[in-house]
Amino acid sequence: MNHKGRRLYEGKAKILYEGPEPGTLVVHFKDDATAFNGEKFEVIEGKGVLNNRISEFIFTRLGEMGIPTSFIKRLNMREQLHKRVEIIPLEVIVRNIAAGSIAKRLGLKEGDPLPRSIIEYCYKNDELGDPLVAEEHITAFGWASPQELDDIVQYAIRINDYLSGLFAGVGIRLVDFKLEFGREYSPDGMVRTVLADEISPDSCRLWDMKTGEKLDKDRFRRDLGGLVDAYTEVARRLGLITGGGNGMRPGPKLVKG
Ligand code: TMP
Repeated sequence: MNHKGRRLYEGKAKILYEGPEPGTLVVHFKDDATAFNGEKFEVIEGKGVLNNRISEFIFTRLGEMGIPTSFIKRLNMREQLHKRVEIIPLEVIVRNIAAGSIAKRLGLKEGDPLPRSIIEYCYKNDELGDPLVAEEHITAFGWASPQELDDIVQYAIRINDYLSGLFAGVGIRLVDFKLEFGREYSPDGMVRTVLADEISPDSCRLWDMKTGEKLDKDRFRRDLGGLVDAYTEVARRLGLITGGGNGMRPGPKLVKG
Protein backbone atom coordinates (compact mmCIF):
# COMPACT_ATOMS: atom_id res chain seq x y z
CA MET A 1 0.00 0.00 0.00
CA ASN A 2 1.36 3.39 -0.89
CA HIS A 3 0.47 5.61 2.05
CA LYS A 4 2.59 8.51 0.89
CA GLY A 5 1.46 11.57 -0.97
CA ARG A 6 3.37 14.43 -2.55
CA ARG A 7 6.90 15.12 -1.39
CA LEU A 8 6.74 18.32 0.65
CA TYR A 9 10.30 18.92 1.79
CA GLU A 10 13.70 17.28 1.76
CA GLY A 11 15.98 18.11 4.67
CA LYS A 12 19.51 16.95 5.39
CA ALA A 13 18.54 13.73 7.16
CA LYS A 14 14.81 13.32 6.47
CA ILE A 15 12.21 13.66 3.70
CA LEU A 16 8.65 14.77 4.46
CA TYR A 17 5.67 13.56 2.41
CA GLU A 18 1.97 14.30 2.62
CA GLY A 19 0.35 11.65 4.81
CA PRO A 20 -2.66 9.45 4.02
CA GLU A 21 -5.11 11.69 5.94
CA PRO A 22 -5.32 15.48 5.81
CA GLY A 23 -3.20 17.03 8.52
CA THR A 24 -0.71 14.14 8.57
CA LEU A 25 2.84 13.77 7.37
CA VAL A 26 5.07 10.81 6.53
CA VAL A 27 8.64 11.29 7.78
CA HIS A 28 11.28 9.25 5.95
CA PHE A 29 14.64 8.77 7.73
CA LYS A 30 17.54 8.85 5.27
CA ASP A 31 21.00 7.36 5.77
CA ASP A 32 22.58 10.74 4.94
CA ALA A 33 24.81 12.28 7.58
CA THR A 34 25.76 15.94 7.40
CA ALA A 35 27.63 18.28 9.70
CA PHE A 36 28.77 21.88 9.77
CA ASN A 37 25.64 23.04 7.93
CA GLY A 38 25.94 20.43 5.22
CA GLU A 39 29.65 21.00 4.44
CA LYS A 40 30.54 17.48 5.52
CA PHE A 41 28.46 14.70 3.97
CA GLU A 42 28.41 10.91 3.98
CA VAL A 43 25.87 8.15 3.45
CA ILE A 44 25.99 5.81 6.44
CA GLU A 45 24.02 2.67 5.71
CA GLY A 46 21.63 1.77 8.51
CA LYS A 47 21.61 5.14 10.30
CA GLY A 48 18.06 6.04 9.22
CA VAL A 49 16.59 2.75 10.42
CA LEU A 50 18.21 3.15 13.86
CA ASN A 51 17.15 6.79 14.28
CA ASN A 52 13.59 5.92 13.24
CA ARG A 53 13.37 3.20 15.90
CA ILE A 54 15.12 5.16 18.67
CA SER A 55 13.10 8.33 18.03
CA GLU A 56 9.86 6.32 17.98
CA PHE A 57 10.73 4.86 21.39
CA ILE A 58 11.61 8.24 22.92
CA PHE A 59 8.58 10.10 21.50
CA THR A 60 6.29 7.31 22.71
CA ARG A 61 7.72 7.46 26.24
CA LEU A 62 7.49 11.29 26.29
CA GLY A 63 3.88 11.11 25.07
CA GLU A 64 3.07 8.70 27.89
CA MET A 65 4.40 11.18 30.44
CA GLY A 66 2.18 13.95 29.10
CA ILE A 67 4.41 15.81 26.64
CA PRO A 68 2.29 16.58 23.57
CA THR A 69 4.11 15.51 20.39
CA SER A 70 3.49 15.41 16.65
CA PHE A 71 4.36 11.68 16.54
CA ILE A 72 1.49 9.28 15.72
CA LYS A 73 3.17 5.95 14.94
CA ARG A 74 6.04 4.23 13.17
CA LEU A 75 4.96 2.92 9.77
CA ASN A 76 7.93 0.77 8.78
CA MET A 77 11.73 0.52 9.06
CA ARG A 78 12.29 4.01 7.69
CA GLU A 79 9.06 5.94 8.11
CA GLN A 80 6.88 7.50 10.79
CA LEU A 81 3.45 9.10 10.66
CA HIS A 82 3.21 12.54 12.30
CA LYS A 83 0.59 15.21 12.72
CA ARG A 84 1.33 18.11 10.42
CA VAL A 85 2.40 21.08 12.52
CA GLU A 86 3.82 24.51 11.82
CA ILE A 87 7.45 24.33 12.86
CA ILE A 88 8.64 27.04 15.25
CA PRO A 89 11.95 28.12 13.65
CA LEU A 90 14.14 27.38 16.67
CA GLU A 91 16.61 24.71 17.67
CA VAL A 92 16.18 24.38 21.41
CA ILE A 93 19.39 23.00 22.91
CA VAL A 94 19.50 21.62 26.45
CA ARG A 95 22.92 21.11 27.99
CA ASN A 96 23.97 19.27 31.14
CA ILE A 97 27.70 18.96 30.50
CA ALA A 98 30.05 21.24 28.57
CA ALA A 99 30.67 19.94 25.04
CA GLY A 100 30.61 21.10 21.43
CA SER A 101 29.85 24.70 20.63
CA ILE A 102 29.37 25.94 24.21
CA ALA A 103 32.79 24.57 25.21
CA LYS A 104 34.40 26.43 22.31
CA ARG A 105 32.40 29.62 22.76
CA LEU A 106 32.96 30.00 26.52
CA GLY A 107 36.35 28.31 26.86
CA LEU A 108 35.03 25.40 28.91
CA LYS A 109 36.60 21.97 29.10
CA GLU A 110 34.58 19.26 27.34
CA GLY A 111 33.15 16.94 29.96
CA ASP A 112 32.93 19.50 32.75
CA PRO A 113 29.49 19.50 34.33
CA LEU A 114 27.66 22.81 33.94
CA PRO A 115 26.62 24.61 37.15
CA ARG A 116 23.05 23.83 36.15
CA SER A 117 21.25 22.68 33.02
CA ILE A 118 21.26 25.41 30.39
CA ILE A 119 18.78 26.01 27.56
CA GLU A 120 20.04 27.76 24.43
CA TYR A 121 18.21 28.73 21.25
CA CYS A 122 19.40 28.84 17.66
CA TYR A 123 17.37 30.51 14.93
CA LYS A 124 16.72 27.86 12.26
CA ASN A 125 18.12 29.44 9.13
CA ASP A 126 20.61 27.53 6.97
CA GLU A 127 21.81 30.65 5.13
CA LEU A 128 22.84 32.19 8.44
CA GLY A 129 24.18 28.90 9.85
CA ASP A 130 21.55 28.64 12.62
CA PRO A 131 22.87 31.52 14.81
CA LEU A 132 22.57 31.49 18.60
CA VAL A 133 19.82 33.89 19.71
CA ALA A 134 18.38 35.12 23.01
CA GLU A 135 14.77 34.99 24.20
CA GLU A 136 14.64 38.73 23.43
CA HIS A 137 15.23 38.08 19.72
CA ILE A 138 12.68 35.26 19.66
CA THR A 139 9.81 37.32 21.03
CA ALA A 140 10.86 40.63 19.39
CA PHE A 141 10.95 39.06 15.91
CA GLY A 142 7.87 36.95 16.63
CA TRP A 143 9.49 33.55 15.99
CA ALA A 144 7.61 32.36 19.07
CA SER A 145 5.22 34.14 21.42
CA PRO A 146 6.08 34.59 25.11
CA GLN A 147 3.44 31.91 25.91
CA GLU A 148 5.00 29.48 23.41
CA LEU A 149 8.46 30.17 24.80
CA ASP A 150 7.13 29.44 28.27
CA ASP A 151 5.69 26.11 27.04
CA ILE A 152 9.00 25.30 25.33
CA VAL A 153 11.03 25.91 28.51
CA GLN A 154 8.66 23.86 30.69
CA TYR A 155 8.66 20.95 28.23
CA ALA A 156 12.43 21.13 27.67
CA ILE A 157 13.08 20.88 31.43
CA ARG A 158 10.71 17.92 31.84
CA ILE A 159 12.17 16.17 28.79
CA ASN A 160 15.69 16.69 30.11
CA ASP A 161 14.81 15.25 33.52
CA TYR A 162 13.07 12.25 32.02
CA LEU A 163 15.67 11.46 29.34
CA SER A 164 18.63 11.99 31.71
CA GLY A 165 17.12 9.33 33.96
CA LEU A 166 16.19 7.01 31.11
CA PHE A 167 19.72 7.07 29.68
CA ALA A 168 21.43 6.97 33.10
CA GLY A 169 19.48 3.77 33.76
CA VAL A 170 21.23 2.12 30.81
CA GLY A 171 24.68 3.51 31.58
CA ILE A 172 24.59 6.50 29.23
CA ARG A 173 25.18 10.15 30.13
CA LEU A 174 22.89 12.63 28.37
CA VAL A 175 25.39 15.43 27.72
CA ASP A 176 23.17 17.65 25.56
CA PHE A 177 20.42 17.45 22.97
CA LYS A 178 18.38 19.47 20.51
CA LEU A 179 14.60 19.78 20.38
CA GLU A 180 12.21 21.29 17.87
CA PHE A 181 8.64 22.35 18.54
CA GLY A 182 5.63 23.08 16.37
CA ARG A 183 2.17 24.62 16.50
CA GLU A 184 -0.69 22.17 16.23
CA TYR A 185 -3.90 23.82 15.04
CA SER A 186 -7.14 22.06 15.89
CA PRO A 187 -10.28 22.42 13.72
CA ASP A 188 -11.86 24.75 16.29
CA GLY A 189 -8.99 27.21 15.80
CA MET A 190 -7.12 26.36 19.00
CA VAL A 191 -3.35 26.16 18.83
CA ARG A 192 -0.99 24.26 21.12
CA THR A 193 2.76 23.79 21.33
CA VAL A 194 3.95 20.26 20.60
CA LEU A 195 7.30 18.50 20.44
CA ALA A 196 8.19 17.72 16.80
CA ASP A 197 11.03 16.40 14.60
CA GLU A 198 13.14 13.61 16.14
CA ILE A 199 15.21 12.74 19.20
CA SER A 200 17.98 10.34 18.24
CA PRO A 201 21.76 9.97 18.48
CA ASP A 202 21.85 12.46 15.56
CA SER A 203 20.42 15.16 17.83
CA CYS A 204 21.92 14.23 21.23
CA ARG A 205 25.34 13.81 22.77
CA LEU A 206 25.40 10.45 24.53
CA TRP A 207 28.50 9.25 26.39
CA ASP A 208 29.02 5.83 27.90
CA MET A 209 29.13 6.42 31.65
CA LYS A 210 31.97 4.00 32.32
CA THR A 211 34.28 4.52 29.35
CA GLY A 212 33.26 7.99 28.14
CA GLU A 213 32.89 6.55 24.64
CA LYS A 214 30.81 8.72 22.31
CA LEU A 215 27.60 7.00 21.17
CA ASP A 216 26.27 9.82 18.96
CA LYS A 217 26.78 11.83 15.79
CA ASP A 218 30.11 13.22 17.04
CA ARG A 219 31.50 9.90 15.73
CA PHE A 220 30.80 11.31 12.25
CA ARG A 221 31.50 15.01 12.98
CA ARG A 222 34.91 14.14 14.47
CA ASP A 223 35.81 11.29 12.08
CA LEU A 224 35.86 8.68 14.84
CA GLY A 225 34.16 5.96 12.75
CA GLY A 226 31.85 3.28 14.12
CA LEU A 227 28.66 5.36 13.98
CA VAL A 228 26.30 2.50 13.19
CA ASP A 229 27.84 0.34 15.93
CA ALA A 230 27.38 3.19 18.42
CA TYR A 231 23.73 3.85 17.45
CA THR A 232 23.07 0.10 17.54
CA GLU A 233 24.49 0.00 21.07
CA VAL A 234 22.12 2.81 22.12
CA ALA A 235 19.16 0.92 20.62
CA ARG A 236 20.30 -2.31 22.26
CA ARG A 237 20.61 -0.72 25.70
CA LEU A 238 17.18 0.84 25.33
CA GLY A 239 15.89 -2.70 24.77
CA LEU A 240 14.95 -2.12 21.13
CA ILE A 241 17.11 -4.85 19.61
CA THR A 242 17.31 -8.47 20.67
CA GLY A 243 20.51 -10.52 20.38
CA GLY A 244 21.09 -11.02 16.68
CA GLY A 245 18.10 -9.64 14.83
CA ASN A 246 15.71 -6.74 14.79
CA GLY A 247 13.16 -8.20 17.21
CA MET A 248 11.46 -5.70 19.48
CA ARG A 249 11.75 -5.77 23.24
CA PRO A 250 9.46 -3.94 25.61
CA GLY A 251 11.90 -1.42 27.06
CA PRO A 252 15.23 -0.56 28.65
CA LYS A 253 17.24 -2.98 30.77
CA LEU A 254 18.57 -1.46 33.95
CA VAL A 255 22.33 -1.36 34.33
CA LYS A 256 23.67 -1.43 37.89
CA GLY A 257 26.66 0.51 39.23
P1 TMP B 1 26.48 22.05 19.52
O1 TMP B 1 27.35 21.82 20.71
O2 TMP B 1 27.17 21.80 18.23
O3 TMP B 1 25.81 23.40 19.57
O4 TMP B 1 25.30 20.97 19.60
C1 TMP B 1 24.46 20.87 20.71
C2 TMP B 1 23.52 19.69 20.56
O5 TMP B 1 22.60 19.90 19.52
C3 TMP B 1 24.21 18.36 20.24
O6 TMP B 1 23.58 17.34 20.99
C4 TMP B 1 23.98 18.16 18.79
C5 TMP B 1 22.69 18.88 18.52
N1 TMP B 1 22.65 19.52 17.21
C6 TMP B 1 21.67 19.16 16.31
O7 TMP B 1 20.85 18.29 16.57
N2 TMP B 1 21.63 19.81 15.11
C7 TMP B 1 22.51 20.78 14.77
O8 TMP B 1 22.42 21.33 13.67
C8 TMP B 1 23.52 21.14 15.73
C9 TMP B 1 24.53 22.21 15.40
C10 TMP B 1 23.54 20.48 16.93
